[in-house]
Amino acid sequence: MNNRAIGIGLLGMGVVGSEVARNLLQQAERLEKQVGRTLALRRVAVRDPGRHRDLSLPAALLTADPNAVIGDSSVHVVVELMGGLHPAGDCIRAALSQRKHVVTANKEVIAAYGPELTRLAEEHEVNLLFEASVGGGIPIIGPLRKDLLANHVSSIHAIINGTTNYILTRMSQEGASFQAALRQAQELGYAEANPANDVEGADAAYKLAILSSLAFHTPVTGSDVYREGISKLSAVDFRYARELGYAIKLLAIARQEDGAVSLRVHPCLLPADQLLAKVDGVFNAIEVEGDLVGKVVFHGRGAGPKPTASAVLGDIIEAARSFAEGRKPARSGSVSHALRVMPMDDLCTQYYFRVTVADRAGVLAKIATVLGDLSISIASVIQKASDAASQTAELVIMTHPAREAHVQQAIRHMQALDVVREVSSVIRVEARG
Ligand SMILES: NC(=O)c1ccc[n+]([C@@H]2O[C@H](COP(=O)([O-])OP(=O)(O)OC[C@H]3O[C@@H](n4cnc5c(N)ncnc54)[C@H](OP(=O)(O)O)[C@@H]3O)[C@@H](O)[C@H]2O)c1
Repeated sequence: MNNRAIGIGLLGMGVVGSEVARNLLQQAERLEKQVGRTLALRRVAVRDPGRHRDLSLPAALLTADPNAVIGDSSVHVVVELMGGLHPAGDCIRAALSQRKHVVTANKEVIAAYGPELTRLAEEHEVNLLFEASVGGGIPIIGPLRKDLLANHVSSIHAIINGTTNYILTRMSQEGASFQAALRQAQELGYAEANPANDVEGADAAYKLAILSSLAFHTPVTGSDVYREGISKLSAVDFRYARELGYAIKLLAIARQEDGAVSLRVHPCLLPADQLLAKVDGVFNAIEVEGDLVGKVVFHGRGAGPKPTASAVLGDIIEAARSFAEGRKPARSGSVSHALRVMPMDDLCTQYYFRVTVADRAGVLAKIATVLGDLSISIASVIQKASDAASQTAELVIMTHPAREAHVQQAIRHMQALDVVREVSSVIRVEARG
C-alpha cells in the first residue's frame, strides 16, 4: 500500500464539519482501507479559531483564513462546509483553480454557480462533488450523475426540506397551527431562529435546481424555480384534505415535456395512498421517473450531522481515490443543452379552493359562473358547517385540470363577488398515477 497521506483541508467546522472532522480522526483506519492511503486532516478554517469546541484540534490546524487552507501545498482535497454564497463560492473557485479536488454540501453555491464551477473543475481536471447538497445522507446526486444516465428523465417529485415536512406533519397529525408547529420545530433544533429560507421554499428551490440540472442536462438556477411556502396553510385545510383522501406536502416538482421544463416548489394535495404522502417528520424522499427505470424513490434522513457527514465522507473518499490514482474525474456531461423554463401561467393542474361565503342561497351559482367563464370545471363541492354568528359558510371546491393563469384570474373575480368573504385557501393538487 502506498501510504503517503492525502491532505484534507476543511473550510468550516460547525454542525457538519465537526462530524466530518471527528470521522476523519476516529475512523481513520476504515477510511484508509477504502482509499488505500491515509487521509490526514491538515488545516481547518473557522470564523473564530479561539472559541471552545467539543472536538478539540491542535491549535496549529485552525485558522480564520480560508485561503490559508486552500493554498496549503499539503492539502489535496478542500471540503467546503461554511455555507452561504460568500465567501464559499469564491473559495471553491480558488480551490479548483489551484487544482484541488473540492467537496461541498453547499446547495446555495451549487444552485447558483453549479454549471460554471463544473466547467472550472473539468478544465483543471479535478473533482467537484456535492452529494450532501441535496437530501443530506440520501444518495441522489451520485445516481443522477451515473446510474440513471441512460434514462430520459421525465419528472422529479421531491420532499427535500425536512423543516417544512416536520411542520406539516405536526399540523396534519395534531391539528397544530403553523406558528405552533414552527415553534415546536425550533425548540427541537429542526428549524433555525430565522426560518424564512425553509418555510418560504427557497431551500427546496435551490435543491430542485441542482437535481433538475443533473436530471435534464440543462442549466437551472434557484431563481428559475417558482416557489410558494407553507406559512399561509391553515390546520383546517389538513382536515378537509384528509376527508377528501389527500395529504398536504411541500413538494418540489420538475417536469420535462415538449422541450421545456416546469420547475416549482409549493404546497400540494397529494393522494394519501401515494408513497410521498407517507413521508413524515424530518425525512426526505425524492422520486425520479425515467423512461427505462420507471419510478425510483430515494428516502432517508435529509439533514443532521451524521447523515450529512456520510455523504460528505463518501465524496472525500471518491476525490481522494482519484487523486491517489492520478486519474481524471469522469466527465460530468451535466449541461448539454438549454431547455426553456415553462412560465407558471401555463401550468395545467387540479386545484383545491376553500372559500368563505355568505350563508345564503345562490352563492354557489355565482361562484360556478366565475369559474365556468374561465373554463375551470368543478369536480366536486362540499359545503362545510356554517357559522351562525358571522352568517358565513365554507365551501371546499375541487376542480378538474385548469390553467394557472385562469385560476389566478378566477381568484380575483371571486374575491370581488359580494357573496364571497374570502378565498381562504388555494392549493394545487398533484393527482398522479
Ligand atoms: N446542518 C445540516 O444538517 C446540513 C445538511 C445538509 C447540508 N448542509 C450544508 O452544510 C454546510 C454547513 O452547514 P452547518 O450546518 O455545518 O453550518 P454551521 O454549523 O453554521 O457551520 C459553519 C462553519 O463555517 C465556519 N465559517 C463560516 N463562515 C466562515 C468564514 N467566512 N471563514 C471561516 N469559517 C467560516 C463557522 O465558523 P465558527 O465555528 O467559528 O462559527 C462554522 O465552523 C451548509 O452549506 C449547509 O447548507 C447542512
